[in-house]
Amino acid sequence: MINMEAQKSFRFSFQFYHLLLILLLQSILSNSVLAIPHKIPRLTPHRETLTRRDPNKILSASAISDDFITLFYTQTIDHFNYGPQSYATFQQRYVINFKYWGGSNSPIFAYLGAEEQIDFDLQSIGFLSANARHFSALQVYIEHRYYGESIPFGTMEQAMNDISTRGYFNSAQAIADYAEVPLHSPQELKGYLESIYTAAAQYNAPPEYPVSMICSAIDGEPTGTDILGRIFAGVNSYKKSYPCYHINDYSYQSESSLGWTWQTCSEMVMPIGRSINTMFQPSHFNLDRFIQQCERTYGVTPRPHWVTTYYGGHDIKLILRRFASNIIFSNGLKDPYSSGGVLEDISESVLAVSTVNGSHCLDIHLPAQSDPSWLVEQRNKEVEIIDGWITKYYADLLVLKK
Ligand SMILES: *[C@@H]1O[C@H](CO)[C@@H](O)[C@H](O)[C@H]1NC(C)=O
Repeated sequence: MINMEAQKSFRFSFQFYHLLLILLLQSILSNSVLAIPHKIPRLTPHRETLTRRDPNKILSASAISDDFITLFYTQTIDHFNYGPQSYATFQQRYVINFKYWGGSNSPIFAYLGAEEQIDFDLQSIGFLSANARHFSALQVYIEHRYYGESIPFGTMEQAMNDISTRGYFNSAQAIADYAEVPLHSPQELKGYLESIYTAAAQYNAPPEYPVSMICSAIDGEPTGTDILGRIFAGVNSYKKSYPCYHINDYSYQSESSLGWTWQTCSEMVMPIGRSINTMFQPSHFNLDRFIQQCERTYGVTPRPHWVTTYYGGHDIKLILRRFASNIIFSNGLKDPYSSGGVLEDISESVLAVSTVNGSHCLDIHLPAQSDPSWLVEQRNKEVEIIDGWITKYYADLLVLKK
């Protein structure tokens, strides 16, 4: 009897607790659906190692291997809108490795960053590096917007706390980012190299002599190094003080390059082209095409003949001989611009001074201890000529005052 009672009460209590448990579970489940986010891991391909961004723990690409180069792409905030605020840009980080790349006919392996900074992916996404050699592939790792160093609008906290800035954080924008980055780079890499090589030639000044520096770095690579490896060695020797290379970063255009583009598109048209016998791809100057480009950029039609109409100089030597005095045309013959310079004396006081190994505007720079003797001589010669002019000026003044 007692047993029966006990059993009953046990059964009752069991049923009661069973019911309670079901109610409780239901309540937890429904609560969690409504209010508490799931605590399942993120989608990212490896286990989360850092919970907060800690700059000290972020690995630089080059710390992993010299073959990884960090670059920044000036990315559009909003790919799907043409309102003025959508043209705003931010810096999107990507890392490339062209150690095994076979050139433009070989594939590009692109890793589209997950929901975190890209630093760890360089180590952990080994599928790309493990197979890059086999496929002669270029490896590109692109960081997802709003993570790591690709956060628009300041810090992650700032970007996320503002309803107007976090709205650009969505999958369609991120995918459009990825589409823009690798498609642009080959052309921009070419443009970047062109700008480096031409600047090195124009400003091939002592004591570094950038042309020799780049060429020795290219030639100094071990036998078997491919073209891109040699190109990189050259760039690295020239830009060695830079932690990374802003190949396609238009936000850092200098005042000079912005201003000069306008000046050459309006009155100072420079008919500079490249023939077939150079290290660059041939590109002849095409006035019609140039005019079209300027019209597109500025809505202005260049006036290629205005300079000579206004200042004169159709036959520059004749004009200088008849009307000019007290001018030194100084040139360094290694400067590509010297090919358009006045290289011979025109008259007694219109003189040409040139140096075989000089570069652009070298003689008007501040003298340095390391200056080669020919540069010192060039400057001395110029001072001597100017001394002569001033002596003659005072002599003329005395004669005319009598
Ligand atoms: C110019 O430089 C070359 C190569 O360094 C050298 O051989 C030559 O003597 C130099 N010429 C003059 C005039 O300084």
